[in-house]
Amino acid sequence: MPMFEYIKSSILLDPTILDSQSDPPDGVPLCRQEDLTFMASNISDIFAMGRARNMFVWGLPGTGKTACIQYLLKETESHSKRINSPVSTVYVNAGRTRSPYSTLLQILKQLNVPLPDVGWQFFRLKQAIESTLKEKPLLIAVDEVEGILYKEKEPLIYYLNRQPKTTLILISNKLSQATQLPERCLSTISDELISIVAKATSDTNDIRFGISMLLTAA
Ligand SMILES: Nc1ncnc2c1ncn2[C@@H]1O[C@H](COP(=O)(O)OP(=O)(O)OP(=O)(O)O)[C@@H](O)[C@H]1O
Ligand SMILES: [Mg+2]
Repeated sequence: MPMFEYIKSSILLDPTILDSQSDPPDGVPLCRQEDLTFMASNISDIFAMGRARNMFVWGLPGTGKTACIQYLLKETESHSKRINSPVSTVYVNAGRTRSPYSTLLQILKQLNVPLPDVGWQFFRLKQAIESTLKEKPLLIAVDEVEGILYKEKEPLIYYLNRQPKTTLILISNKLSQATQLPERCLSTISDELISIVAKATSDTNDIRFGISMLLTAA
């Protein structure tokens, strides 16, 4: 038998669909319509006001966070083109980029910002993203955000959060303590919620994290 002869499976019509890295068939995640509609409705604010509420997507490994967000970004891009809007989307996986510097560099590359071959200092990258934001609102999805969230030097997420016309989607399967608040805490800001937020905030060493959680809960 020739060495590389492909033997067709007699059980599976298309085995690639079962590859753990594969996209859902036709790119559309199954059984997530409600979540996708909810997120799309939040994103629609960007087209009207240049900015929407940031989103935090948490879920166990393999539950489809990456698949859903990539689909959502693709749909946002096509909608933006359809209506001739300047809104752009960016996806970056901080589990791969690891450092705030490489993460921001990756964001700029995806936006086709011309970058020199030799390394720029971090502040130059910040200047580049700030001038991009003068031209267009950005929806930035940072997957596996725990990879950079707690980096004390140059806290990129907080920096991006302070930029105008920037909406963030932060995705993680690890930061459960930040989101697993008891449901009853979500309707009122009780003392109990405040102590949970205080504990999570002190773990991050950044008060802005707590303030943003209070805002979201409220
Ligand atoms: N709703 C869905 N419909 C079809 N395929 C799905 C769905 N959710 C997940 N998948 C498939 O399951 C696999 C794992 O999904 P995905 O990588 O999006 O998970 P994840 O939540 O990002 O996991 P992790 O936390 O490990 O990053 C992928 O091949 C993806 O295409
Ligand atoms: Mg993922």
